[in-house]
Amino acid sequence: MPASSFMNAVSVGPCCAPNPEIVVSIAPTVACPARQFKAAIAAAGKTLRMGITETINTAMRRIPAWPLYILGVLPAIWLVWLGATGGLGAEPIKALEQGLGKKALQLLVLVLAITPLRRFAGLNLLKFRRAIGLLVFIYVTLHLLVWLVLDVQAPGRIWADILKRPYITVGMTAFLLLIPLAITSNNRSLRKLGPVRWRKLHKLVFPAAISGGVHYLMLVKGWQIKPVIYLAVILLLVATRFIKRRRSVANG
Ligand code: HEM
Repeated sequence: MPASSFMNAVSVGPCCAPNPEIVVSIAPTVACPARQFKAAIAAAGKTLRMGITETINTAMRRIPAWPLYILGVLPAIWLVWLGATGGLGAEPIKALEQGLGKKALQLLVLVLAITPLRRFAGLNLLKFRRAIGLLVFIYVTLHLLVWLVLDVQAPGRIWADILKRPYITVGMTAFLLLIPLAITSNNRSLRKLGPVRWRKLHKLVFPAAISGGVHYLMLVKGWQIKPVIYLAVILLLVATRFIKRRRSVANG
């Protein structure tokens, strides 16, 4: 061991000596105040964290999921109201389209975060997943409708736009991937498909979210940080699911 590291290690305290022989021989009998202090801090931190997540989980268990549908559509109603009353600026259709698209993407990120939040932070929001997932679909559908009915208008241009503009093609792909998820987000479908097939089908949320993020990145002009952050977060959240699967395979 280089002399400098040895000195650093020794300066921590005699019971934290770097010599493993010394550590082994004295550890069971001599209490190290520094280590005890560190362990106490770590234990207190863990207890506090567990306490906070348990408090949140208990509170969440008491809150029903259904009000989320009502709260979730309020921003859409507000946006439409603003659009109809001249509150969305000089280009209300574009602002409405963008506002709905942004909400859809934010909800998609939230729905992707639910499993990692439970796994890594112990936060259980599973009971809200279906409501948030359906809200994603509502927002994407409204976003698409604004594009079809208010933006493009001419039916002949719709197909041409889907084929010619890559960001529309990718957005449309995301929308199509979300359709089977929205249709099967109910207990009857879960029973009919069985949990294994249902879970497999619902993995479509990963390519759908990635397509949504890519769609946003493709449509902005020039270099902008926001779509990059959205896509990075989506990829990270999807990656956590992949790591989980590989680890469980490795563990047999
Ligand atoms: C999961 C599906 C989708 C998501 C998450 C999504 C998300 C977004 C987001 C975040 C924006 C940009 C908002 C902003 O600039 O602040 C946007 C814009 C837009 N999206 Fe989507 N979108 C999706 C599907 C679609 C589909 C299916 C279409 C049409 C076929 C579409 C057409 C557009 C258009 C035309 C814009 C506006 C572009 C502009 O600013 O000129 N999107 N979308």
